[in-house]
Amino acid sequence: MAEAVSAARSGVPKMSMIVIEELTKVFPMGENEIRALNGVSFSIEKGEMVSIMGPSGSGKTTLMSIVGCLDVPSSGTYVLDGSPVEKMNDTQLADVRNRKIGFVFQQFNLLSRTSALENVMLPLTYTGLSARVCREKALRVLELVGLKERVKHHPAELSGGQQQRVAIARALVNDPAILIADEPTGALDSKTGAEIMDLFQSLHRDIGQTVIMVTHDSFIARHTNRVIRLADGIITSDAPNLAPIKAGTPRPEAEF
Ligand SMILES: Nc1ncnc2c1ncn2[C@@H]1O[C@H](COP(=O)(O)OP(=O)(O)OP(=O)(O)O)[C@@H](O)[C@H]1O
Ligand SMILES: [Mg+2]
Repeated sequence: MAEAVSAARSGVPKMSMIVIEELTKVFPMGENEIRALNGVSFSIEKGEMVSIMGPSGSGKTTLMSIVGCLDVPSSGTYVLDGSPVEKMNDTQLADVRNRKIGFVFQQFNLLSRTSALENVMLPLTYTGLSARVCREKALRVLELVGLKERVKHHPAELSGGQQQRVAIARALVNDPAILIADEPTGALDSKTGAEIMDLFQSLHRDIGQTVIMVTHDSFIARHTNRVIRLADGIITSDAPNLAPIKAGTPRPEAEF
C-alpha cells in the first residue's frame, strides 16, 4: 500500500506482479466441454498475500496452473511482472517457471530417497551455479523456514509440517517472484497448519514475498490480506482482509 502511494506521488507508474483479464479455460470432454474458468479478471501487486477460495471443482487449481505457467488459458490475457505470457515460447515459459514461480502442494511432493538439503538443492541443478553456492543457498532457505537442524533428514524422518517446510524451502530457493501454494495446510493438523501460516506471514512481512494460496478453509484464508472467491469458474468476490488473523490464534469453536 505504502509502495502504491509513493509510486502514485512520484508519478512513476506502478507495475503489478500479475494482471489477468477475462481468462477462460475450456477442457474438451468427448462431445462436451468443461468451462473450468469463465472470464476471470484480477491483478495482484508485488508483496501481496492472497487466498483463493471456492468449492471443489470451482477452478482454483486450474487458475493456479495458469498463474504458475504450467498451463495456458483458452482465451484472455495474463501479464506476469510486465511480460505477456501468451507471447512467450516454450523455452521462455520454462525459464519463467524456474525463475519466477515457486510451487507448494498439499502432498509436499518431496523425493523420498534424498535429504532435505538435496531436495531443496534440486531446482538449482540447471542454474549453472557451483555446487558450493547451491548448497549455501539451500542451507540459507532451510534456515529461513526453521529447519537448520534437520538438513540431513530424509522426508520419512520429518513430521508433516517439517516436510511442508522443506517443500516451501525448495519453492523459495530460486528467489521466485511468486510463491503459489495449493492447499498447503490441507494435509496437516490445525496446529501444524498454523505453523505454516506463521511461516507464510513472516515471508510476506519480512522479505515481501508475494504469496498466493489456495484453501478450502475460511479460517486459514483469514490469515491472508485478501480473499478471492471462485465458484463455477467465476470470481464471486474479491475483498481485502484488513485485519488478518495472527498465526497461532485458536480457531473459534464454531469452525471446527
Ligand atoms: N485436465 C482436465 N481435463 C478435464 N477437466 C478438467 C481438467 N482439470 C480440471 N478439470 C475440470 O475443471 C473443473 C475445475 O477443476 P479444478 O481442479 O480447477 O478445481 P478446484 O477448484 O481446484 O477443486 P478442488 O478444490 O477439488 O481441488 C472441474 O470441473 C474439473 O473436473
Ligand atoms: Mg484443486
